[in-house]
Amino acid sequence: MEWSWKKPWLVMMIAIIVIGLLLFQVSGSSSSSGCFPEEKKALLEFKSAYSNESLLPSWVNDSKSNCCEWERVTCDRSSGHVDHLSLETLNKNHGLGNGAIGCLNNSATRVNWSLFHSFKELRSLNLSDNCFDDFIWEEGNRSKSTLKKLENLDLSSNNFKKSVMEFFSGLSSLNNLNLANNILGGLFPSKEISHLQNLVMLDLSFNYLYGGLTTQALANLSKLQVLKLGQLSLSGSLPIQGLCKMKQLEVLDLHRNAFDGTLDACVANLTSLRVLDLFGNSLTGNVFEPWISSLALLETLSLGMNSFEGIFSLNMLANHSKLKVLELDEMDSETFQVQTETSPWIASFQLEQLDISSCKVNSHTKTLPSFLSSQTSLEIIALLDNDLVGSFPIWLLLNNTKLEGVYFGGNCFTGSFELPFDLNYHHMDQLEFLDISDNKIQGELPRNIGVVFPNLILLDVSNNKFGGHIPESIGEMENLTTLYLGNNRFSGNLHEHILNGCLSLSSLIMDNNQLNGTLPSFTGNPKLVLLFASRNNFQGSITREFCRFGLVILDLSFNNLSGTLPPSCLNRLFINLQGNSITGKIPEASTNMSVLMDLSDNKFTGSIPESIYNLPNLRYLLLAGNDLQGQLSSQICQLKNLQALDLSRNNLSGFIPSCLNKIRFSEEIYDPPSRIPGFSSRGVDIIEKTLMLALMLLFMEQKVQFTIKASSREYEGDILEDISVLDLSSNQLTGKIPYQIGDLHDLFALNLSNNNLSGSIPKSFKKLQSIESLDLSNNKLSGQIPLELQDLHSLAIFNVSYNNLSGRAPDQGQFGTFGDSNYKGNPYLSWGISNRRIAASPLSPIQLDEVNHHDSAVDSTSFYWSFVATFVTVLLAMLTILWINPHWRGAWFYFIEGVLLKCFGGLLGDAFY
Ligand SMILES: *[C@@H]1O[C@H](CO)[C@@H](O)[C@H](O)[C@H]1NC(C)=O
Ligand SMILES: *[C@@H]1O[C@H](CO)[C@@H](O)[C@H](O)[C@H]1NC(C)=O
Ligand SMILES: *[C@@H]1O[C@H](CO)[C@@H](O)[C@H](O)[C@H]1NC(C)=O
Ligand SMILES: *[C@@H]1O[C@H](CO)[C@@H](O)[C@H](O)[C@H]1NC(C)=O
Ligand SMILES: *[C@@H]1O[C@H](CO)[C@@H](O)[C@H](O)[C@H]1NC(C)=O
Ligand SMILES: *[C@@H]1O[C@H](CO)[C@@H](O)[C@H](O)[C@H]1NC(C)=O
Ligand SMILES: *[C@@H]1O[C@H](CO)[C@@H](O)[C@H](O)[C@H]1NC(C)=O
Repeated sequence: MEWSWKKPWLVMMIAIIVIGLLLFQVSGSSSSSGCFPEEKKALLEFKSAYSNESLLPSWVNDSKSNCCEWERVTCDRSSGHVDHLSLETLNKNHGLGNGAIGCLNNSATRVNWSLFHSFKELRSLNLSDNCFDDFIWEEGNRSKSTLKKLENLDLSSNNFKKSVMEFFSGLSSLNNLNLANNILGGLFPSKEISHLQNLVMLDLSFNYLYGGLTTQALANLSKLQVLKLGQLSLSGSLPIQGLCKMKQLEVLDLHRNAFDGTLDACVANLTSLRVLDLFGNSLTGNVFEPWISSLALLETLSLGMNSFEGIFSLNMLANHSKLKVLELDEMDSETFQVQTETSPWIASFQLEQLDISSCKVNSHTKTLPSFLSSQTSLEIIALLDNDLVGSFPIWLLLNNTKLEGVYFGGNCFTGSFELPFDLNYHHMDQLEFLDISDNKIQGELPRNIGVVFPNLILLDVSNNKFGGHIPESIGEMENLTTLYLGNNRFSGNLHEHILNGCLSLSSLIMDNNQLNGTLPSFTGNPKLVLLFASRNNFQGSITREFCRFGLVILDLSFNNLSGTLPPSCLNRLFINLQGNSITGKIPEASTNMSVLMDLSDNKFTGSIPESIYNLPNLRYLLLAGNDLQGQLSSQICQLKNLQALDLSRNNLSGFIPSCLNKIRFSEEIYDPPSRIPGFSSRGVDIIEKTLMLALMLLFMEQKVQFTIKASSREYEGDILEDISVLDLSSNQLTGKIPYQIGDLHDLFALNLSNNNLSGSIPKSFKKLQSIESLDLSNNKLSGQIPLELQDLHSLAIFNVSYNNLSGRAPDQGQFGTFGDSNYKGNPYLSWGISNRRIAASPLSPIQLDEVNHHDSAVDSTSFYWSFVATFVTVLLAMLTILWINPHWRGAWFYFIEGVLLKCFGGLLGDAFY
């Protein structure tokens, strides 16, 4: 009996306790229709200050609403207090883009820290990506100790400055601190960081910190497992001893700094290391073996873009079964080599990303690494510029179905690019980047390439031996932005479907092929900004539609185009139509952004339209070899930024304007055009940004590249230091040579030959201190050759033959090297014995001949091509780099945005946001 009475009582007791507990539990979070009132209040205040209704719809000011159930809020089960807040990307003033770039100007940027005082139990706070630039806290009450339990603080992608660091001294409980992608500047905050002794994860990447990183600064951080200091400007020697003491370190990311020094054998002690990213520093030495084998847990090993030396034998990594990312590319050292075949080994890893570009891979045999045949998980593989031989390893695509990026450019692969049978059934939906440029691959592109690789973003097959038609199926690649087909043997017409189907296409390069037919009529591809189709056999006329689109750079030179030029075509940043048969007048230009206009060697008639004189950014005006008539207007002097003016081989008459000295004729950098057409005002995609940057780099680096390219082309030595050119040769110009031309001290080449110029050679020419080529032949010049010209030390080409010059030619300086061919046809001119020796000429006779027989002083084609080549090189290089290197990608675009904003300020701002 006792039991029968006691038992139900016991059961009831237990039931009551359980129910009570349950009720308590529930009440803790909901029965009081809410969380703690002060917490709820703080949340609502946060919302009204920084966010809005559409971003936080569940956060309502309603007594029945329980804030523990709100989105982005988590409460502790037992205490009922808020313990996690995920308040990232909530700022109502946030525009497009990351970090500072995305913030609208008038945003409420300071976040009131006292709001968070209400959350006594807060353990995690995420405020990333909110445009915040500071905390507001009450002066004097700087004890932030209220958040005694805060362990995780994420402030990444905001606008915080370094001063925010002092704020953390009170938060000694912090385990994880993320300040990546802010604008922290100044010296590395060693002191502030050393207070945070409980840190397990520290991320300060993508800021503007500089200075050294000392072993001392790291001494207190013995619990650190993750240290990310990528993309700062830290320098000095790598504090390797300090790092080696952090035995728990799992992630060490110091990519893109300027650390020097060598890796020490003590790295072997970091046996927990999963990620070692030292990419893009200045580290030296060749000590790998002693430590690499100890780091058996490595998943990412990124040592590229350093100055490491010696041979890196991949069999060191044979047993690293967890390795997924290996980057050894672009070593800035003559001796660094990757060897994969030194001894037989079997890879225990399945790589996801491999970049051994420019690593002199197997430099003796030039064979493809054989371990690749065991890899099946590759997502990105980059073997650029290794001169590898053998037939194109198409089987890699078959073995690795997850491939996203394949970069095989710059090797010597031969054979054809035939897709294996299986690929006709298995589409490679993941593949986005395919670069097989600069090889010796022949045959046709597979007809179904667009179906097999439907999601390609970049397809680069340029500089190979491909022939046949360009497959129509490329038009299926809706996401293709970059299509490079140049320097092959493609023939036939370019199918309209390619232009109309590739809706994302922004650059199309197909120069130097055998394409023919009319230019494709395309019905709308507003994103196309760059079209190179030179050196093909395109015929017919350029339609108005063709130029209606956003094309910024249009190169149709050396085709067989005829008809007239629609006005809209002229309004491009670069337009090159050299070497066609276009007739009629040059249309009026109606916008002012043109930088290069090359209409040479066509059949243009009439006069130079006045509107051209109103193009303030024009740097190259090349109208040679047409049938232009009329007087040369002095309005041409309004083109102050011209570097090259070539009007040779026309029928221009009248005097040479005396104001030509108003034109700069120099390669000085000038402000790039303020607005680029073809860029929609919002949502410009990545490729367009890249293109923009390429343009910008082009402007900035023109000088160097130009010179190098040009001098290695037609002219040996350093004759061509400056590329500014004035060429008015082979016209009907009369009158005297204006002495003001002597003011063009940066002029490299002056050609006034084959006109009817009279009078004497101006003495002011002695001021042409940069002149290297001066051709005044075939005119009616009389008088003496001014002795002062002897001071022109750069003069290498001088021609005054067939004039009426008299007296004695100078024989000092460069003139000591000139002879008969320079002076003949002047019956009253005599020249000394020394002058007859041509031998001392800096040019070999053949070259001299070549140059002298040119109608214009400088072959405009060659210098233009060097210019274009520069552009394409920059663009390609950047694309390659960007797509290979995921962490560069983020960094780079961050950088671009920064640079663009800095350099172009508000001018381009419009185009981007
Ligand atoms: C919530 O509503 C009450 C009453 O309508 C109001 O007094 C209070 O200021 C509101 N709180 C917030 C944070 O908006
Ligand atoms: C809230 O802010 C977001 C982000 O800035 C914005 O897109 C949205 O239009 C805003 N909604 C309201 C109702 O203001
Ligand atoms: C933001 O506004 C201020 C003041 O109106 C102005 O000086 C500043 O240039 C603006 N910044 C940007 C990035 O527009
Ligand atoms: C590893 O650490 C131990 C103890 O700190 C040290 O004695 C040893 O020299 C270190 N190893 C290397 C290779 O530096
Ligand atoms: C990859 O392809 C090659 C060539 O077809 C083949 O020999 C190799 O077995 C394949 N590897 C795997 C893992 O399938
Ligand atoms: C193109 O890109 C978009 C977004 O990145 C993706 O959803 C789509 O599947 C891609 N492919 C095609 C063929 O549109
Ligand atoms: C274009 O070239 C192909 C082969 O190269 C030739 O068969 C065809 O007749 C050419 N078409 C035109 C219009 O010239």
